[in-house]
Amino acid sequence: MKNKIKIAKSSGFCFGVKRAIELAEKVAEKNGKVYTFGPLIHNPQEVKRLDAEGIKVIEDYSKIKTGIIVLRTHGIEQEIHEKLSKRKNIKVIDATCPFVKRAQEIVKKLSGISDQIVIVGEKTHPEVIALVSYGKGRCVVVEDKKDVKKIKKTPVIHIVSQTTQSPKQFASIVELIAKISKVKIYNTICRATFDRQGSAEKLAKLVDIMVVIGGKNSGNTRRLYQICSQKVKTYHIENVEEIKKSWFNNSNKVGITAGASTPNWIIENIKRRIEGICESGRKDNKQEKRSEQRK
Ligand code: F3S
Repeated sequence: MKNKIKIAKSSGFCFGVKRAIELAEKVAEKNGKVYTFGPLIHNPQEVKRLDAEGIKVIEDYSKIKTGIIVLRTHGIEQEIHEKLSKRKNIKVIDATCPFVKRAQEIVKKLSGISDQIVIVGEKTHPEVIALVSYGKGRCVVVEDKKDVKKIKKTPVIHIVSQTTQSPKQFASIVELIAKISKVKIYNTICRATFDRQGSAEKLAKLVDIMVVIGGKNSGNTRRLYQICSQKVKTYHIENVEEIKKSWFNNSNKVGITAGASTPNWIIENIKRRIEGICESGRKDNKQEKRSEQRK
């Protein structure tokens, strides 16, 4: 049977990532060089490509005395943003995704009216660290069901989500919190996340193997991997070199999906490589059959 390779309907670059790259590229083109505080997006290969265009990642903003700093899609902590904006010879261009910004605004507003804001997300993810900073010490981060016990009983518990959470995980944690007190839910999961997870799951049910492409540091890609792994054998790779021929030995139908920070050129490279492997596998099979018939 001919191998079929299918790419999930919704995969790869999202609106927020495209917007951030376009902004940074425009500034770099005009000024020759621009800095991003932390990687602009969570894809090491694309960040390397951007570096060649003059978009340089810095981890310590205090070392930059002059220049333009573009803020990454996941956002940065409120105090750092304020400090940077006050620096005389530094120009700040905010490329925080508008959906992340919306979540930050909600947490900021809640910090004025609530003693406890629950953020459902990954504790160490830059977006969550930034969200917590907007909560003025009132945030509790819940990463999994175990963390729910950290929540205090208050008349109302306000719950905000990391923009790239899995809707199912978010709903199951909300359900547990609702047993403690009355809850007010702010579902800040973005549409791109919702669509990518939905179409990855749909495709994973139809194929023999799934290949998830994206940065190992990308939270939304890791979630795609988790979702697909529950349905079928799944591999998470960043680049074409990680592919192993043996994965496709008994796989007629291959599904591909990619995180929101994965550029099209990486997806295409990987698709071509898989097509090549499947094609050579078919030739080997034909030769084997012919030599068996001759025996
Ligand atoms: Fe924004 Fe969602 Fe992409 S929050 S950066 S549109 S994954």
